[in-house]
Amino acid sequence: MAAFAFAETPRSVKLNSGYEMPTLGLGTWTLTGETCENAVYAALKTGYRLIDTARYYGNEKEVGNAIARAITDGICKREEVFITTKLVPWTSTPDKDIDDSLQKLGVSYIDLVLLHQHGGNDDTVYKAMCRAVKAEKIRSIGISNFYTEKTVSHFIKDFDIPPAVVQNENHLFFQNNALRDWAAKQNIYIESYYPFGGRGHTKEHLQNKTVLEIAKAHGKTAAQIIVRWHIQAGFLTIPGSSNPAHIAENFDIWDFELTDSEMKKLSALDTGRRYENW
Ligand SMILES: NC(=O)c1ccc[n+]([C@@H]2O[C@H](COP(=O)([O-])OP(=O)(O)OC[C@H]3O[C@@H](n4cnc5c(N)ncnc54)[C@H](OP(=O)(O)O)[C@@H]3O)[C@@H](O)[C@H]2O)c1
Repeated sequence: MAAFAFAETPRSVKLNSGYEMPTLGLGTWTLTGETCENAVYAALKTGYRLIDTARYYGNEKEVGNAIARAITDGICKREEVFITTKLVPWTSTPDKDIDDSLQKLGVSYIDLVLLHQHGGNDDTVYKAMCRAVKAEKIRSIGISNFYTEKTVSHFIKDFDIPPAVVQNENHLFFQNNALRDWAAKQNIYIESYYPFGGRGHTKEHLQNKTVLEIAKAHGKTAAQIIVRWHIQAGFLTIPGSSNPAHIAENFDIWDFELTDSEMKKLSALDTGRRYENW
């Protein structure tokens, strides 16, 4: 099993900012309108306390509406929900963008803001994120789509606040364990996006022979084995879904454990190739 595997599969971890972050959340890429609002509400009702959005997704308003509705309905309190959003790297108005995200989400602080990817204005955007932490508009900051020690190190060395989280494409076929192990030593968590390979590739993951064999042994679904693998291997993860049944299924992973031998079999599926090149 990997050196950094969580000892007890925690439901949350403490970030280098001092704040707790749930290990499993709902991703909202491609979810819009009522579908998005209903998916986020269903997730909160199921027990999720981490919701991942981005300015680029155009759904912060719907995410905020769902959270507000869940609070009104007594499902959760604002301080129990961990909201992540992301700033586009090409913006020239990052301070204004943060204020706009606060307004769209309908909250007085955002738990985690990520630089969405490497782009034209990375340093300016990251500096604005550091300022917003000092102004208590943001609690933790991080980066996304940075795959090497060298590129992540820049944000550790050259700014007032290091990233707490690096959100990257990460799945059974692209595990990037070296970055995870190095990041752990820097007190930084890697958060997996595309845990099922992302739209267009989910079959390769959910119908994988090794995954299905392990699923059968535990009386669980392929999706549950994959989510459990991410968390047991020391990643945070945010499977995306518009379907309340899938949302509930993906969260039902706390009552079993993958053995060392199963973890090894799943780790052996790594091909080192990712789907995206951004
Ligand atoms: N930082 C970045 O650049 C970046 C890039 C991409 C994604 N992300 C984030 O990461 C999140 C996850 O990635 P993703 O949503 O693109 O891909 P994903 O989580 O790998 O896969 C989502 C797909 O899996 C299906 N699915 C979910 N649960 C299932 C289940 N139990 N059984 C069968 N199918 C299931 C969904 O369909 P249904 O809707 O039918 O359930 C959807 O088509 C995103 O939502 C987003 O928040 C970040």
